[in-house]
Amino acid sequence: MTTSTFSGTTFSGRTALVTGAGRGIGRAIAVELAGRGARLALLSRSAGQLDETAALVRSHGSEAYVLPADLGDREAPAGVARRVFDDFGPVDILVNNAAVVWPLGPSVSIDPAAWAHSFDLNVSAPMALTFALLPDQLRQGWGRVVNVSSGVVARPGSMIGGNAYVTAKTALEAHTVNLAAEVRGTGVTANVFRPGSVDTGMQAWIRGQEPEAIGPALHERFTRTYAEGALITPEHSARALLDRLPGDDNGQIWDVA
Ligand SMILES: NC(=O)c1ccc[n+]([C@@H]2O[C@H](COP(=O)([O-])OP(=O)(O)OC[C@H]3O[C@@H](n4cnc5c(N)ncnc54)[C@H](OP(=O)(O)O)[C@@H]3O)[C@@H](O)[C@H]2O)c1
Repeated sequence: MTTSTFSGTTFSGRTALVTGAGRGIGRAIAVELAGRGARLALLSRSAGQLDETAALVRSHGSEAYVLPADLGDREAPAGVARRVFDDFGPVDILVNNAAVVWPLGPSVSIDPAAWAHSFDLNVSAPMALTFALLPDQLRQGWGRVVNVSSGVVARPGSMIGGNAYVTAKTALEAHTVNLAAEVRGTGVTANVFRPGSVDTGMQAWIRGQEPEAIGPALHERFTRTYAEGALITPEHSARALLDRLPGDDNGQIWDVA
C-alpha cells in the first residue's frame, strides 16, 4: 500500500485498476496513467498480454500488479476487489474498460444465453466491481470511476446486428449517470468515456467475421471505416480520457468524437 501524494494535476501516488488492460484501449489507458504517475493494477484473462502491458507501465517507473481474471465469472468482481486490496492497496481510480462486442448478427439468430452473457460482462461485471471498490473510495473522500462505453449509445439504430452491445452500453451509461448523482459531493466521481472508433483487436475481429454471419451492412460499415483510415489509435483515445480525468466532472459523457 502507498500513501497518497496526489497533486491534482498528475496521478502520482494514486492506484488505478484498468480492466481489459492487456491490449487495445485498456493497455493505452494503463500506460497513459503510468506516464502521469499512477501505479497500475492490470486485469484481463490473457496473462501474457498483461505482462506486456506491465512492462510498459514499469518503463514509466510505475508499479504494476498483474491480475488475470475472467469477468464473465459472476464471482470474479468480488474476488478481484479483495485480491487488489490485499496485494496492492485500495483502488483510487477504476477504469471499467473490458467488454465484448459479440454476439453479432440478426437478433432472431442470437442465442439468448449469449446475449445475457455479454450483458453480464459489459454491464453487471463493471457494476459489481464498482460497488465492491466504492466503499474505500467513499471512506477516503476521493475516487474516480470511468465506464468505457461507445458512441453507438447516441445512435442506437446505427449498429444493426449489434443489439446486445448497444443495449449493454446504453445500460452502462444509465448506471453511470445514476451512480454519479448518488455520489455527488463525496469526492468520488463517475463518468462515461466514449473512446471513438479505435484501431484495436475488437475492430479487427468484426472485420474478420463472415459478412453473412453478422449481417453484410454491419460488416461493410466496419470494413469501410478501416479502409478510409478513419480509425484513431488507442493512444489518441487514451490521451483524450486522461486529459479529462483529473477534473471534477461527475455524471458526464466524455466523447472523443
Ligand atoms: N475499438 C473501438 O472502436 C471501440 C469503439 C467504441 C467502444 N469501444 C469500447 O472500448 C473498450 C475497449 O475495446 P477494445 O477495442 O480495446 O477491445 P479489445 O481490443 O477487444 O480489448 C478488450 C479487452 O477486454 C478484455 N476482456 C474481454 N473479455 C474479458 C473477460 N471475460 N474478462 C476479463 N477481461 C476481458 C480483453 O482481454 P482478454 O480477451 O485477454 O480477456 C482485452 O484486454 C470496450 O469497452 C469497447 O466496448 C471500443
